Amino acid sequence: MNHLAVIMDGNGRWAEKRHLPRLMGHRAGAEALDRCMHYCKAAGIRYLTVYAFSTENWKRSQEEVSGLMKLLSSYISSKEKTLVKEGVRFRVIGRRSDLSEKLQKEIAALEEKTKAGDFTLIVALSYGGRDEIVRAALRFAEEYGRNSSFIAQHASLEAAFGSFLDAPDVPDPDLIIRTSGECRTSNFLLWESAYSEYYFTDALWPDFDQAEFDKALESYSKRERRMGGRLK
Ligand code: FPP
Repeated sequence: MNHLAVIMDGNGRWAEKRHLPRLMGHRAGAEALDRCMHYCKAAGIRYLTVYAFSTENWKRSQEEVSGLMKLLSSYISSKEKTLVKEGVRFRVIGRRSDLSEKLQKEIAALEEKTKAGDFTLIVALSYGGRDEIVRAALRFAEEYGRNSSFIAQHASLEAAFGSFLDAPDVPDPDLIIRTSGECRTSNFLLWESAYSEYYFTDALWPDFDQAEFDKALESYSKRERRMGGRLK
């Protein structure tokens, strides 16, 4: 497997079960993300995409939204050295112009400093799959109006369109895991997940450990991926 994507759900419930503020659940979720990155590297996976903040998450209480933004900002400043040392390339997908200018600058600086990494961590921030497709469609239309011949430089019309998505060079996810028992895609990687396998677990994201990771990979290894084709 090349690319794993995760909908890190259940941080709030994890905290509530312990009578802690929701933000403590998100902090524990950030630690679970660090652990998951190590499991991925050990398993030879090269890309990990995580859903950290959706276009809908802005509707949460102001306290939770600003707490999450602070958590992201402190993650970026505290992890810089470790990410560089461990060869992790940090990237962000989503509507970054929604984020504060300070956070946008911190993200751009970390992306630049880690660009030589050979393992890629992609964080979806103010991200919605429909929003990504609509933004790509606008850019596609703009380019088409200027010079429609660019399509011929791609293998197909879909590949030409895909080149306007947020991380066009990243292969599609092979497996998408959602924790906490919810069985929805919630607007995550709509275009990129066309042929992805899904795995749902009741574990809450902060409890997602090596045993859970191994179960997900074992389930994936038994799937027969035909990608719309036929068995020989
Ligand atoms: C969903 O759980 C989780 C989120 C909306 C936030 C995920 C964010 C992190 C794990 C923070 C760390 C990320 C980085 C990149 C540092 P929920 O709050 O919807 O949980 P609930 O359904 O139990 O309420």
